[in-house]
Amino acid sequence: MSGPVSYAKDGDIAVISIDNPPVNALGQGVRQGLVDAMDQFDADDSAKIAVIVGEGRTFPAGADISEFGKPPTGPALPDVATRIERATKPVVASIHGTSLGGGLEISMGAHYRIAQNTAKVGLPEIHLGIFPGAGGMIRAPKLIGFEKTLEIVHSGRHVKAPEALGMGLIDVVDESGDAKAAGIAYAKKLLEEGAGVRRTTDLPLENPGKDWFDAARAAAAKKARGLMNFVEAVNAAEGALMPVDEGMKHEREHYMKCHMSSQRAGMVHAFFSERAVAKVPEAKVEPRPLKQIGVIGGGTMGAGITAAALNAGLSVVMVEMNPEAVARGEANLRRNYASSVAKGRMTQEALDGLIASKMTFSDDYAAMSDCDLIIEAVFEKMEVKKEVFGKIDAIAKPGAVLASNTSYLNIDEIAAATSRPQDVLGLHFFSPAHIMRLLEVVVGEKTLPEVAATGFALGRMMKKVAVRSGVCDGFIGNRILAKYMTVANYMVEDGASPYLIDEAVREFGYPMGPFQMGDLAGLDIGYFNRQGKAADRNPNVRYGAGFLDEMYHKGWLGQKTEIGFYDYAGGARSGPPNPGIMPLIEAEREKLGVEPREFTKEEIMRRYIAAMTNEAAKVVGEGIALRPLDVDMTALFGYGYPRWRGGPMHYADEVGLDKILADIREFEKEDSHFWTPAPLLVQLVEEGKKFADLNNA
Ligand code: 3HC
Ligand code: NAI
Repeated sequence: MSGPVSYAKDGDIAVISIDNPPVNALGQGVRQGLVDAMDQFDADDSAKIAVIVGEGRTFPAGADISEFGKPPTGPALPDVATRIERATKPVVASIHGTSLGGGLEISMGAHYRIAQNTAKVGLPEIHLGIFPGAGGMIRAPKLIGFEKTLEIVHSGRHVKAPEALGMGLIDVVDESGDAKAAGIAYAKKLLEEGAGVRRTTDLPLENPGKDWFDAARAAAAKKARGLMNFVEAVNAAEGALMPVDEGMKHEREHYMKCHMSSQRAGMVHAFFSERAVAKVPEAKVEPRPLKQIGVIGGGTMGAGITAAALNAGLSVVMVEMNPEAVARGEANLRRNYASSVAKGRMTQEALDGLIASKMTFSDDYAAMSDCDLIIEAVFEKMEVKKEVFGKIDAIAKPGAVLASNTSYLNIDEIAAATSRPQDVLGLHFFSPAHIMRLLEVVVGEKTLPEVAATGFALGRMMKKVAVRSGVCDGFIGNRILAKYMTVANYMVEDGASPYLIDEAVREFGYPMGPFQMGDLAGLDIGYFNRQGKAADRNPNVRYGAGFLDEMYHKGWLGQKTEIGFYDYAGGARSGPPNPGIMPLIEAEREKLGVEPREFTKEEIMRRYIAAMTNEAAKVVGEGIALRPLDVDMTALFGYGYPRWRGGPMHYADEVGLDKILADIREFEKEDSHFWTPAPLLVQLVEEGKKFADLNNA
């Protein structure tokens, strides 16, 4: 046999090896190879038992996801699992690395399972907008029951081999580190014991009853956050109670609903983009070493960045303005670990030990003179940043990387305050910095490739999704955010209630709407930002934030003052609308002479999406983001964009760029300043192309 599956003999044992690097994904060649190997095994009278094993680092980690969305090519994976199960002689799966999704499904098709103790198994398809569709929903319940099946399917978690053994998902754990030899030894033992074919689908299974499934569906719907696959997985699992062929057909029907959905397309786009986003021009450049970093400012962001660095194993020097601020910084840092300590994930002693061994607190910049990278998280004012960078320049060792966590400010201007602009870059973390996955690595005009590479290396150490951004006001994320926040404000002035807008945005899939988000971040931030830009404001550009200024003057700043758009009395994290808001907005409309009009949720989202897409197209067109997928990952990991929609650019492709451009042109008639179509969007529509074409370029 040629191709990715080989058939060899070790005495009377057939050894079927899968060799399809890097993860032995079950692409067409592997599927066909497995079927052919099973045919050969059945026909080979000298073979008494077969062992299926993966070459290289792993047993198959699942179906080949890159085939999704393309015309199907046989044999189908469910038929491969069934073909293995229907072998006339026993088949052993010998698992190492990760046996995930279809990989675990084919091992459940085998009659016996042995795994290396370091192996992990799981059914993570839920993260791809699907669920196990190669007999997994039929066979797993027979091995581990419905309850555990749904738990591992809905969580998508990787189960370590010893736990899988306890569950009954595998039969034996081996510690030799050699899956092939262990599989062969186990097969020999089975032969000696006279073990025969043991088909998973023949195992008995108790029916927990319709009420149990209904309750499981209700629980799944709660967890689903808009995804259909959670409930469909429960529906499919009912097939385990049917005769096997009927059950497999039942699973297939429910599976295909998910497989053919835009949700699956969005989730798969997110899977590949999450990996592709790391492929930046600097990826091949050696980063500078990172052991100790300096953090200037122990406020919200400084304390979060410090926690992220400690969790990555780095030592940190935190510098604040004076001894009182240093003490506050340490308290802020400890607060970031409070819930871990309260929940028992970390002991107080461990936290004290971590801080004692890895932290230095100081009000003297000189304490950072040995640091490999220094990141500033002080107040968002250019003069302050420049002064701070001047001070860093004076003390930092040669070759130290100098970074700013600024949200909006010009990195090139900040770099110019030092004698070494080539060592300066932006590292824009998101709040809370030890939890949020996004990190924008802002590469300035003079930033050296190795300096940018060091930013990406820090991101990897911290397990962040690092996105490369060029320099502009707000970088990728906040620049786009500013546009859709503005359009939301305009709609409020024109007649939509902020509550209807929040509802529409939540229904789209965001965890919260823009006004809830404003309340969470604090409405003073936006106010100060507007004040900072007031001198340069173009009087011909619609302002749109008068009602927000009024709220600021009333002290309605959101959660921090327990009142904003919503009422957070008693420090609640959510609450009913603030009854003062609508009168305040109505007064503002009157002042502006606006006759309020009706908005539907559909129109709200059309405008919201059009504003987001247009600005995102400008961000890509100007080269601020390398590719559309970089915008998508920014939105997903920093701004709560629903993963199952793939990201704003993927979604725009799906809606149709021509449609979105037509919307923008329609809105342009009302306000040509705000709604200038992005040249890239116009170009793509003219050429009949999609954003996706630029990802693959
Ligand atoms: N299909 C196609 N390509 C895959 C793949 C898959 N199932 N799994 C990983 N890859 C690719 C990655 O895109 C990456 O490609 P790149 O080098 O070009 O960027 C490469 O393999 C290595 O992957 P990672 O960088 O993720 O390597 P790690 O070592 O960090 O992680 C892993 C390995 C844990 C296996 C991880 O890749 C993973 O979680 N893969 C997906 C597992 C999964 O979801 N399986 C279920 C598939 S759906 C299915 O089986 C449907 C069935 O039920 C019908
Ligand atoms: P903060 O006000 O909570 O903290 C700033 C800290 O810097 C204060 O503790 C202050 O004492 C200290 N500080 C000020 N000047 C200093 C100096 N010269 N030397 C040493 N310490 C000094 O502010 P926050 O929210 O942490 O923001 C910091 C930076 O991070 C800003 O640039 C902000 O735009 C940015 N940022 C903020 C985000 C957020 O959600 N809060 C998100 C991403 C970036």
